[in-house]
Amino acid sequence: MQSKETRTYTEAVKRGDYDRYSGNLFGKYDNVRTYWEDQLTRFVLRPFLSKLVAHRQNQGKKLRILDLGCGTGQGYELVTKIDKRDLDLGLQRDRVLPEDEIEVYLGLDLCQEMVDKGNEIFECKPNVNFRRADLRKDMDVVKEEKPFDIYFSSYASLSHLDKSHLVQLLIDICNHSNNESLIILDFLGRYSIEWPDYWKVETEPEKIRDYSMSYLYSELNQDVEIEHFPVRFWTGTEVEELVEELIMETKVQVEILKKYDRSILTGRHTDTQQYNPKLKPIRRTVNRLHEDYMRTDLSELIIDADIVPDHPKVAPFLDELIRSWNILVNFCQKRLEENASLIELEDWPEFSSHLQFALMNIDRVIADTGWMWYGEPRANIIEPQLGYALRSLEINMQKGIGCGHGLVAILEVTK
Ligand SMILES: C[S@@+](CC[C@H](N)C(=O)[O-])C[C@H]1O[C@@H](n2cnc3c(N)ncnc32)[C@H](O)[C@@H]1O
Repeated sequence: MQSKETRTYTEAVKRGDYDRYSGNLFGKYDNVRTYWEDQLTRFVLRPFLSKLVAHRQNQGKKLRILDLGCGTGQGYELVTKIDKRDLDLGLQRDRVLPEDEIEVYLGLDLCQEMVDKGNEIFECKPNVNFRRADLRKDMDVVKEEKPFDIYFSSYASLSHLDKSHLVQLLIDICNHSNNESLIILDFLGRYSIEWPDYWKVETEPEKIRDYSMSYLYSELNQDVEIEHFPVRFWTGTEVEELVEELIMETKVQVEILKKYDRSILTGRHTDTQQYNPKLKPIRRTVNRLHEDYMRTDLSELIIDADIVPDHPKVAPFLDELIRSWNILVNFCQKRLEENASLIELEDWPEFSSHLQFALMNIDRVIADTGWMWYGEPRANIIEPQLGYALRSLEINMQKGIGCGHGLVAILEVTK
């Protein structure tokens, strides 16, 4: 019999959630996923993937990628669509990892429907394959294969494993990998404001808590029965301890190249308020910012700083991010309604350079839209740019401590 999580994923595939990318107001591929989360993942991966690709090119080799809990191949889309340069404005985009530099992409997933759908979507690419495997026990699949250059995971696949299964999986990977292989770990972050009740834990069993993908159903028939299943939530410090444990167990040198928090104020469950009824549906509002011909009430973006629970490390960071976020939103609103000016921001000298930069960007965007009076500049230019400016605050201020919906770590193996 299928487990609850596999039933959830089976239904999601059947509904078409895993078919293709399309930006929208809700659902799996909403605008935040497309314009914030995927892009942040690419942006963070870029320098490390560039270095790896260059080294393999020097060795005359193509890259081998293993995707752990691959869904229908979202990882392939992520790694092959990273632009080599910012401000690449020409018609042809130069990618860090062009598709013809991939020797093999093998996706492993527990859910047979995912595997079948992945094989269907990528039917025309013979080097892209999907296989059913349980990461908790089927790693012989990996051992039979030649080493991979990237052991990838995305969007919290690895939170489905408890710690002991994850450690065993990573030991197998460390032993199997090449010199310079990258391991991308993607978890749910424990300190997200989406689930403050999960912050305080003492024991390992308490780190495994209830989760559901109810956000996929929010606009659908309310009669759908939503599955709940246990997942492991992680902090940045625990990822550091995990890597130390791996080094001890395997004697392989593993270094954390980067940890980062993804979707700190825009997690999926801000919309459902399922685990924190005090939240506003911030993600849905940000999705609106990115939607053409749709105006957004910017006051819906203002976040109440009192929602942050006490915590010596996390609360000061979240307070600062929320303060910067609110200043930017308030300024944009005033600039649109009253023609406010940056000079009126009295605390300007105390603002971080990230906030100053974001404010200057919005000020300039609004100043420059006069030429487009017939094209609905508020909805089509200013609001999406506000979305990107808010995104830049999250990206530049995050610290990889586990206070986003997602916590990602990029590891490198040296042999
Ligand atoms: C949140 S989805 C992420 C899918 C995809 N990586 C993405 O970026 O959208 C988590 C995936 O992990 C898979 N999964 C859960 N437990 C697993 C296990 N024990 N072994 C292999 N895959 C598993 C699920 O079937 C699902 O496809």
